[in-house]
Amino acid sequence: MILSSIVAASLNNGIGKDNQLPWHLPADLKFFKTTTMGCPVVMGRKTFQSIGRTLPGRKNVVITRDKTFNADKAFDIEVVSGIEEAITSLQSEREVFIIGGGEIFRQSMDLIDTIYLTVVNTTLEADVFFPEIDKTKFELVWEEAHLADEKNKFDYTFQKYVRK
Ligand SMILES: NC(=O)c1ccc[n+]([C@@H]2O[C@H](COP(=O)([O-])OP(=O)(O)OC[C@H]3O[C@@H](n4cnc5c(N)ncnc54)[C@H](OP(=O)(O)O)[C@@H]3O)[C@@H](O)[C@H]2O)c1
Repeated sequence: MILSSIVAASLNNGIGKDNQLPWHLPADLKFFKTTTMGCPVVMGRKTFQSIGRTLPGRKNVVITRDKTFNADKAFDIEVVSGIEEAITSLQSEREVFIIGGGEIFRQSMDLIDTIYLTVVNTTLEADVFFPEIDKTKFELVWEEAHLADEKNKFDYTFQKYVRK
């Protein structure tokens, strides 16, 4: 199984503010959807509540310490007590995506094989950050730069890093 993180971060590594994304970048949402479609997505409870729904076409796995979370089965999600449990339960999958947020990205940094990073070309106020990518451990293997347009307010670059 390939374990990947997928994230969009500003130049100061900001990824969230007030439990929301700090920007609206439809091109990145499209990239996220295309890249993750068909694969399980693993997220922290706060990110799940920020999205507010299950992501269709993907098994949604939510990490929480709250044993009663989704006890009423209101959402079609799998609830797990930590990253290790998520990985164990998804071992037979081809690729699994860690989709955030900050706490979960931080705790999975030593476990992941690949990082899909969208660099959002701005410096914004944020209260949640992506960890600095250790370039001695990860190698940039692909990138694709895009200019801002009427729908996407900032320039952005899709990057893919793989563990050396
Ligand atoms: N830009 C991006 O690409 C991107 C992607 C995703 C999210 N975000 C942003 O990131 C922010 C949310 O990130 P966050 O760091 O605040 O929260 P988070 O990582 O989404 O979720 C944190 C929660 O996960 C659970 N958790 C964390 N570690 C755990 C462990 N070891 N064992 C069991 N449960 C654990 C806890 O849930 P309980 O409290 O229920 O126990 C904790 O409160 C939002 O602003 C969101 O918009 C940005």
